[in-house]
Amino acid sequence: MKKLKWLLLVIAFSPFSFLFANEGMWLPLLLESMNEKEMKSMGMKISAKDIYNINNGSLKDAIVSFGGFCTGEVISEKGLILTNHHCGYSAIQSHSTVEHNFLETGFWAMNHGQELPNAGLFATFIVRMEDVSNAALKGVTENMDEKTRQSVIDKNLAQIRAAAKKNDWEDVMIRPFYEGNKYYLFITETYRDVRLVGAPPSSIGKFGADTDNWMWPRHTGDFSVFRIYADKNNRPAEYSASNVPLKPKKSLSISLDGVEEGDFTMVFGFPGRTYQYLPASAVKQQAEVLNPVKINIRDQALKQIDGFMRNDPKIKIQYASKFASTANYWKKWIGESQGLERTGGIERKLAYEKEFQKRVDANPAFKQKYGNVLPELNKLYAEMEPFALVRDNFTEVTRNTELFTVVGLMNTLHRTYNNNGIAGYTTEKEKILNRLKGFYADYNEKVDEAVFGVLMDTYFKNVPAQFIGDEALATWNKQDESGEKLADYIYSKTRLTDESKIKTLLEMPADNAIEQLSQDEALQFANSLIAKYSETITGKLNELQSSINNLQRIYMQAQLDVFKDKRFYPDANSTLRLTYGKANSYEPRDAVKYELYTDLDGLMAKYIPGDYEFDVPARLIELHEAKDYGVYGKNGKMPVCFIGSNHTTGGNSGSPALDAYGNLVGLNFDRVWEGTMSDYSYDASICRNIMVDARFILFVIDKLGGAGHLVKEMNLVHPKKNQPKAKTAK
Ligand code: ARG
Ligand code: GLU
Repeated sequence: MKKLKWLLLVIAFSPFSFLFANEGMWLPLLLESMNEKEMKSMGMKISAKDIYNINNGSLKDAIVSFGGFCTGEVISEKGLILTNHHCGYSAIQSHSTVEHNFLETGFWAMNHGQELPNAGLFATFIVRMEDVSNAALKGVTENMDEKTRQSVIDKNLAQIRAAAKKNDWEDVMIRPFYEGNKYYLFITETYRDVRLVGAPPSSIGKFGADTDNWMWPRHTGDFSVFRIYADKNNRPAEYSASNVPLKPKKSLSISLDGVEEGDFTMVFGFPGRTYQYLPASAVKQQAEVLNPVKINIRDQALKQIDGFMRNDPKIKIQYASKFASTANYWKKWIGESQGLERTGGIERKLAYEKEFQKRVDANPAFKQKYGNVLPELNKLYAEMEPFALVRDNFTEVTRNTELFTVVGLMNTLHRTYNNNGIAGYTTEKEKILNRLKGFYADYNEKVDEAVFGVLMDTYFKNVPAQFIGDEALATWNKQDESGEKLADYIYSKTRLTDESKIKTLLEMPADNAIEQLSQDEALQFANSLIAKYSETITGKLNELQSSINNLQRIYMQAQLDVFKDKRFYPDANSTLRLTYGKANSYEPRDAVKYELYTDLDGLMAKYIPGDYEFDVPARLIELHEAKDYGVYGKNGKMPVCFIGSNHTTGGNSGSPALDAYGNLVGLNFDRVWEGTMSDYSYDASICRNIMVDARFILFVIDKLGGAGHLVKEMNLVHPKKNQPKAKTAK
């Protein structure tokens, strides 16, 4: 007993606890060599080959990159795919009108003819992947400068691409991994006829909206359903009425048994971006210096917008989606900084670095190659800080002030005029007018003016004068260094905030319009800020970033060399990854326990009639009162969401949660707020992903949506009753 305790203590405080069990976004290709044993010991009942196999249909053949920003998975032999409601949101919105508002009412196609095409939406399968590092890095030497190195690699990649064996409907993609120490090639298959099949009302798909976002307990039915269409030969094709539903290589079976505490789970999808191998100094900078700046700017913008939304129902609709997207990362960053602090994420990295340095210093070859990499990285990050601060101020202020969107479009127009003359100008103008139509439909000048005012106060306070354009500074001083006065001045003068004024202006002959634009007060002010920023910050940042990238690559290789006893997974880069863990309740803080499951009773307890976040459809109330859960309920309860210790990030939205047999048990859509720092440093003690239970999805499709015909397409199984093939749909 004593020995065990001692051992646990050593493990907990040794630098090797740097890698927690459950941590990692692993490459499907390498599961067999790197993970299979551990996965089986954690309860997996299938083999790595069932997950990734290029000769037979395996689980990977059911996973798609959904539009490049989310994940989806095939759940029927007729190409039906499942993803999140928030991933399908813009598709659902684009088919909605005032008379048929699918966001509000939900939508269910009752036959193939009613399924709705979505221009620009695609679904990409991974046919196979391959390590091409040797060929990609051929001729690269250690003391090459970055530019030369990149041009050697670019030439190699072009050759690899040209030589890659593939069918003509497939594509080749090559991506750097491990900070550029490795390269993997992907053969992909992209289907461009992806139709909307169904979505629950937002009161289910977005239940709890921003209040519940990133939170547990959660009760959101965050899913929507699409279908992939192919040509008659089952190949990718542009949209055509004559296309037919895809016959997939693999479709996931759906479990009606759910999970219990401790059950093995995996999440398979396309995580976007993580930063697991930064030095402690960089993480500290992010958590303590940069995040607070970004949080503060969004905080102020959100407060202004919220004030208007509360008092004006029209503004509430116009700004709902913008508010949600601004609030999403605002909230994430708060959780991230707090989580790093609470779990000692930075101290843990420092302990790891100490061990790293010790090992490096003890080995002459390492010492020569890697002896200075950490101190140099630390130095560069410190050097970068003032510029990164201006960058984040600039990026956040321009992102959150809508005026800058119009400024950007007008600058594009001006540039096109200069470069391509009248003809180019005219085509660009049409495109821009089109964009502006959508923009102004959801724009309120008063809201934007208020946001501009408070954000300018912040900008001029935070950013040293040497990085601000003279003209902008002069205007600022003339307006008594007051954001409110500046806003009043600019917004009363400019034409950019008024659709009809801009239209009139753009109807003038091109050179006239350009001349008028260049005299616009908003454009002059904004362009003075933008120009000085590009002049003093952009180049410097690129230069520092390039040196940092070089050192991060060396540091990564150094870790691979120095810690031979440790498994490393590459940072997320929007390529297909598998992460695994367990269905797992936990204690996020003292005396607080987060249970594994939420259910419909809990959802109904949050119900606020008529509320924009917590209303529910009348039919759901009926079904709940009658406890009419069909085969989807369990012991008189209807499970809704559950949590697990799977290491996920943005882009994993819509990823399937799979059980030990590879059956779909849920749909990933979020993480708990306390653990959002997992993008920098995963800690199983507070990091959990959030999934909506497959049974709740089926219940909503079938009982609420009346789309039982879709459920009949699916293969429902009872793995826990050892009836892998039982069809339980009515
Ligand atoms: N937090 C989730 C993600 O990062 C869900 C976002 C959509 N929901 C929202 N209320 N903004 O994408
Ligand atoms: N909601 C996120 C997404 O859209 C997933 C949550 C996360 O960041 O883990 O990808």
